[in-house]
Amino acid sequence: MEKWKVFVMVMMVSLFTFTVGGEEDGVTYDGRSLLIHGQRKLLFSGSIHYPRSTPKMWPDLIGKAKEGGLDVIQTYVFWNLHEPQPGQYDFSGRYDLVRFIKEIQAQGLYVCLRIGPFIESEWTYGGFPFWLHDVPGIVYRTDNEPFKFYMQNFTTKIVNMMKAEGLYASQGGPIILSQIENEYQNVERSFGVGGPQYVQWAAKMALSLDTGVPWVMCKQTDAPHPVINTCNGMRCGETFPGPNSPNKPKLWTEDWTSFYQVYGGLPYIRSAQDIAFHVTLFIARNGSYVNYYMYHGGTNFGRTASAYVITAYYDQAPLDEYGLLRQPKWGHLRELHAAIKSCSSTLLQGVQSNFSLGKLQEGYVFEEENEGCVAFLINNDGVNNTNVQFRNKTFELLPKSISILPDCQNVTFNTANVNTTSNTRIYFNRQNFSSIDDWEKFEDVIPNFDDTTLRSNTLLEQMNTTKDKSDYLWYTTRFEYNLSCSEPTFVVESRAHVAHAFVNTTYIGGAHGNHDVNSFKLELPVTVQLQ
Ligand SMILES: *[C@@H]1O[C@H](CO)[C@@H](O)[C@H](O)[C@H]1NC(C)=O
Ligand SMILES: *[C@@H]1O[C@H](CO)[C@@H](O)[C@H](O)[C@H]1NC(C)=O
Ligand SMILES: *[C@@H]1O[C@H](CO)[C@@H](O)[C@H](O)[C@H]1NC(C)=O
Ligand SMILES: *[C@@H]1O[C@H](CO)[C@@H](O)[C@H](O)[C@H]1NC(C)=O
Ligand SMILES: *[C@@H]1O[C@H](CO)[C@@H](O)[C@H](O)[C@H]1NC(C)=O
Ligand SMILES: *[C@@H]1O[C@H](CO)[C@@H](O)[C@H](O)[C@H]1NC(C)=O
Ligand SMILES: *[C@@H]1O[C@H](CO)[C@@H](O)[C@H](O)[C@H]1NC(C)=O
Ligand SMILES: *[C@@H]1O[C@H](CO)[C@@H](O)[C@H](O)[C@H]1NC(C)=O
Ligand SMILES: *[C@@H]1O[C@H](CO)[C@@H](O)[C@H](O)[C@H]1NC(C)=O
Ligand SMILES: *[C@@H]1O[C@H](CO)[C@@H](O)[C@H](O)[C@H]1NC(C)=O
Ligand SMILES: *[C@@H]1O[C@H](CO)[C@@H](O)[C@H](O)[C@H]1NC(C)=O
Repeated sequence: MEKWKVFVMVMMVSLFTFTVGGEEDGVTYDGRSLLIHGQRKLLFSGSIHYPRSTPKMWPDLIGKAKEGGLDVIQTYVFWNLHEPQPGQYDFSGRYDLVRFIKEIQAQGLYVCLRIGPFIESEWTYGGFPFWLHDVPGIVYRTDNEPFKFYMQNFTTKIVNMMKAEGLYASQGGPIILSQIENEYQNVERSFGVGGPQYVQWAAKMALSLDTGVPWVMCKQTDAPHPVINTCNGMRCGETFPGPNSPNKPKLWTEDWTSFYQVYGGLPYIRSAQDIAFHVTLFIARNGSYVNYYMYHGGTNFGRTASAYVITAYYDQAPLDEYGLLRQPKWGHLRELHAAIKSCSSTLLQGVQSNFSLGKLQEGYVFEEENEGCVAFLINNDGVNNTNVQFRNKTFELLPKSISILPDCQNVTFNTANVNTTSNTRIYFNRQNFSSIDDWEKFEDVIPNFDDTTLRSNTLLEQMNTTKDKSDYLWYTTRFEYNLSCSEPTFVVESRAHVAHAFVNTTYIGGAHGNHDVNSFKLELPVTVQLQ
């Protein structure tokens, strides 16, 4: 009997393969989920950005992500690292995108490649190479020929590179999803008719590259068919109105595990319980892909952080800046993934229904015709434990929690019940900087007024002037002191981040703005030594 059953199953699979033809080679989707090589998938994903760590760290980070129950690694592509000058490319060291993807493949995980190429990502200039600024007639991110030319040029470069290495799932590689643009809806209206036209163009351009895997646009309600609009945020189970077609799956591209930190700000702590609650709610409400942004934030090396963002990026993620497990976050989510994976077949094949269990309590059930049954029992009461009746049994639910019953009978996981021990990061001295020889000193050249050629009566647009070669711009002025005046005052009104003032070579003071108020006034008395 058993043998006969197995035989029938095999026949069905081969029949399916035969009928569907080429599709099983790549990635497709329907209203429920992505299908990889024809297989329906419920996927957990985590963002790890390759230039925010070192190639030596990559295998360990990816390994810990896999052990944490992830199926996919999601990364942006960082245009300004890769094309520092038009047509001059750099994919070496920390910028070695192919090596990063091959490492993910070697560990058996999939990749979601977010090409952008505008990425934001708290990255300098949103990922655009600064030379774009000086392309005549360019207007970024709208229906503008020069911009579209360079965007298409870089996107094509990346796609061709992936194809040449056989990295798309349609070629047997790990890449199952690609993203074009990034949260464009946030700015779309300000471009008038150019906005929607650009969205149409971007989708068409991306699709023409023929990757054999779906494209997504995150936070883009008007994503053109067949591009999938996805959700970013902390509570997508509650906030996402869903994809713009019943034939597109419900995907969450950024579940913020924390938030980026700015100078003068505090770390944003999001609890493991809160993350688990919202992931589970999203799955209960038909979601089939959740990506943690970030799973490992890492380090903004050099000058790569955007304005006021500190060098540690999403240090509160399940893997901290250094790639250490941040507990209980990592372990609690690992248990959540295991609980959901234990019943993912029923979640994907079953029919969903929902019902009320009380004033603030609700339930979701996924049921297959003959066998599988999965239940999610939700308590939205943030204060009290609550008893609910489900299928003639009483279940006690912790405040603001969801219990997962992979067989509709037994609870294997409750989002608020943390069974992972917390850890703290311990610091110890590895090396004492005892001698001045341990430090390197960089000296900025202070220009001599008489040797300068650029003259201006106002402060200049900073990056237009530095061409992003430096974060520093020296202004020098000189004046003759009129003895009959009161003590002179030095005043700068600036939209830069920091200003330091010197009289001759003596430091007289400084001022800075902050992330929320990015202009400041520096006002200092100048003491004049009379000879
Ligand atoms: C991109 O532009 C460069 C010139 O800047 C050109 O050599 C190259 O062929 C272009 N590539 C594509 C894919 O259009
Ligand atoms: C989930 O999918 C089912 C179809 O299986 C549908 O009836 C239901 O309305 C969906 N629920 C939500 C919250 O999207
Ligand atoms: C079922 O879920 C839908 C969508 O979230 C909601 O509108 C509806 O009120 C729920 N039904 C019950 C009985 O809770
Ligand atoms: C929680 O329980 C207390 C005491 O039983 C009750 O006064 C309160 O209204 C309950 N809170 C909610 C949100 O139901
Ligand atoms: C619950 O109990 C009632 C009566 O005791 C019974 O008719 C019903 O079938 C039971 N339901 C389940 C799901 O066991
Ligand atoms: C699940 O619940 C049923 C009925 O309550 C029980 O008979 C069974 O042993 C439980 N299974 C496990 C694995 O706990
Ligand atoms: C809690 O963790 C321990 C040790 O890892 C494990 O044996 C136990 O089954 C876990 N309990 C629950 C409810 O998951
Ligand atoms: C660094 O200096 C401290 C205090 O003097 C000392 O206790 C410690 O052992 C030193 N560490 C190393 C690695 O040399
Ligand atoms: C940028 O600098 C150029 C000269 O190099 C000048 O013509 C242009 O007006 C400047 N643009 C802005 C926005 O300041
Ligand atoms: C100095 O200031 C006084 C008073 O404002 C003015 O009358 C005089 O012309 C000034 N002298 C010079 C050299 O600027
Ligand atoms: C700055 O240097 C100049 C020339 O060396 C000197 O004449 C002047 O007094 C100095 N000014 C101050 C405020 O020290």
